[in-house]
Amino acid sequence: MCGIICYCGKKQAVPILINGLKRLEYRGYDSAGFSVVSEPGKSKSNKVRKNIIVKTKGRVFQLENKMEGIDIDATYGIAHTRWATHGKPSHINAHPQTDCSGKIGVVHNGIIENYKEIKEDLIRKGHVFKSETDTEVIAHLVEEFFTLCGGNLENAVLKTVQKLSGTFGIAVIHSDVDHKILIAKRGSPIIIGVGENECLAASDSNALAPYTNKMVYLSDDEIAVLTPNDYYIKNLSNETLDKKVEILESNDYKEDKRGFEHYMLKEIFEQPESLENAMRGRLIEGEGVSKLGGLEPVIDRIKNTKQLIIVSCGTSYYSGLLGRYIFEHLTELNIEVELASEFRYRRLKLNEEIAVLALSQSGETADTLAAIKEAKRKGALILGIVNAVGTSIAQITDAGVYNHAGPEIGVASTKIYTSQLVILTLMALLIGRYQGVSFIEGSEITDALLKLPGQVREILKEAPQIEKIALQYAKYKNFLYIGRLFNYPTALEGALKLKEISYVHAEGYAAGEMKHGPISLIDKNFPTVAIAPDDLTLDKMISNMQEIKARSGKILSITNPGVKKVIDISDDIITVPRTIPILQPVLNIIPLQLFAYYIAREKGRDIDKPRNLAKSVTVE
Ligand code: AGP
Ligand code: GLU
Repeated sequence: MCGIICYCGKKQAVPILINGLKRLEYRGYDSAGFSVVSEPGKSKSNKVRKNIIVKTKGRVFQLENKMEGIDIDATYGIAHTRWATHGKPSHINAHPQTDCSGKIGVVHNGIIENYKEIKEDLIRKGHVFKSETDTEVIAHLVEEFFTLCGGNLENAVLKTVQKLSGTFGIAVIHSDVDHKILIAKRGSPIIIGVGENECLAASDSNALAPYTNKMVYLSDDEIAVLTPNDYYIKNLSNETLDKKVEILESNDYKEDKRGFEHYMLKEIFEQPESLENAMRGRLIEGEGVSKLGGLEPVIDRIKNTKQLIIVSCGTSYYSGLLGRYIFEHLTELNIEVELASEFRYRRLKLNEEIAVLALSQSGETADTLAAIKEAKRKGALILGIVNAVGTSIAQITDAGVYNHAGPEIGVASTKIYTSQLVILTLMALLIGRYQGVSFIEGSEITDALLKLPGQVREILKEAPQIEKIALQYAKYKNFLYIGRLFNYPTALEGALKLKEISYVHAEGYAAGEMKHGPISLIDKNFPTVAIAPDDLTLDKMISNMQEIKARSGKILSITNPGVKKVIDISDDIITVPRTIPILQPVLNIIPLQLFAYYIAREKGRDIDKPRNLAKSVTVE
C-alpha cells in the first residue's frame, strides 16, 4: 500500500525513481508520480532550478509513457505510488502534491487526521487548494513555514510535522533549496539508504536494495535531511540523533519470478524451502524441543506468563486462530486471538503477566502496530513473528522470531501463512516443554515438523491434477468452505484466497455452524470445499457433508489418502499426506492455494495485484 522512493546524488534521478517505483508496485497502488528539481540549463530561458512534477492515475508504466519525448536533467527528487484514502484516484489527487508557488513537492504515505482544521486555517490565510487529499496541507504548511523560517527548509518541515496528527511517512523538496530532501516519519515507515556520493530513502528496503545495503531506519517523530554526501537525523525537539547503520543481508527480491507466471505461484512452490528456513537451527531433535534465539532474552518472563493474546489481520489472523489451538494443545497458557483492528478498542485488562504476540508478514500493518503499541503502554510483554526484517512491528516488540521466508511479493499471502504456522508450533513447543509436554510428545512434533517440507513437495507434484479440478469449478459464483477444529482456520483461509484473487464469493465456516444458517444457501450451484482429514472430528464432518449432499450440493474434499468415508460422499477429492493433527493444516492449505490460483488465472485476474488490495496495509 503506497510507496515512497527518494534520490539525492549525482546521477540522473528520474530513471532511479521510476525503477524504485517499480520495486514498490507489489505493495498495491492506484496512482504514481514524481517531483524532481531540474538543473539550471545554459539557455536564457532556463536559468533557475524548477520543480517538475509528473504524475498519473494508474500504473507506473503509464507514468513512463507520459515521459516519452521529455528529457529532464535532475539529480534529486521524490516519487510515490498512492493508495487513495482521501479523494478518489485521479491525476490531481496523485502525489507529489504541491503548494501555491509550485516550488514544493511532497509525497506522503498514511493519513493526516487533522487535515480539515489545517486546511481551513490555511485557506483563511489565502492558500489555494487543488486536490481532495489530506496530503496537500503538508505542502501548504511547509510553504507557510518556509517563509516564516527565512527559507530554511529543515525548520519549515520540523514545524510542519509538529502541527500534524495522524500517520505519515513524508518526503519534501523545494526548488529553491539545492540538493536537499527532507523526510519524516510517524507510524508509517521510512528508511534511509546510504550510498557512495548519494543518499536515498524509501518506505521499503526492497526499493533501496539495488543501490546500497546500508540502511538507517527512522523512528517515529524523527526527521532527516538528505544531501548527496551526508545525512543527519533530528527529533522534534531539534536535537541531532546518532543512529545505527544496519546492513541489509539478503536481497532475493532480485531473483524475480524464476520462470513462474506469477509471484503467487512462485511463492506457493517456494513453501518447501520457506518451511525449512523457518525451522533451520531451531529444532533440537534429540531433546524433542525447539530453540528460538530471539525469545531467549525474555524466556523467564514468558515462563511466568498467564495469558497469551495473539493479534493480527487477514491471513495472519487466520494463522493466529490456528495458533490458539496449537498453544492450547501444547501449553498451559490461556489463549485469546483477536483481530488487531478490534483489540485496540477493547477494554482489556493487560499487565506484565500477559504476553501479546503480533503476527505480520509485512511488519507494517497499521492495525497490528496500533494494537501492540496499546498493549505496550499497558505493560504487556510484546512478542512478534514477522517476516520483513527491521520493520516497525519488529522494532516495537520486546522479542520475536523472524520467518526468514524471503520477500513475499504476491498480495495474497501463501508461504508466510504456512511459515507462521510452523513458527507458532515451534513457540508452543518451546513453552510446552517447560510445562506438560513430554519428551516423547515433543519428539513426535519435531519429527513431524521435519517431514513437512518433503510432504509439501509431494503435494506440489500434484499441481496439474489440482488445476484440472479447479477448472471444473471455475464456473461457480459462490463457494462454502468448511472445516472443524484445526481445520476451521484452513476453511477461512482457503475462502479468503479464492475471494481475494478471483473475486468469487466464498465463505469460510466452522462445519458445525453450517446448520445454524449458511446451509440455506446450498443448492446445486453452490459447491462446498470440505477440509476433512482423517482426525477425531471426521465423523462429525461426514455428517455435515451428508447434510450438504441431501440438498444437492457438490462437494470437493481435501483429505488424506484412502479415507473411504470421504471418498464415498465427495464429488471430487484432493489428497494430502498424513501428519500429526496440529500440523495437518500446513499441508491442507497448499491445494487450496493452488485451487484459488488456477480459478483466478482462468478468469484472467491480476493475480499478484488484485483490485483494491495492497500488500502492506498501512492505514487503520
Ligand atoms: C493475505 O492474503 C492478505 N492480502 C491480507 O489479509 C494480509 O494477510 C493482512 O493484510 C495482514 O498482513 P500482514 O501479515 O503483513 O500484517
Ligand atoms: N492519505 C493520502 C492520500 O489519500 C496518502 C495515501 C497513501 O498512503 O498513498 O492521498
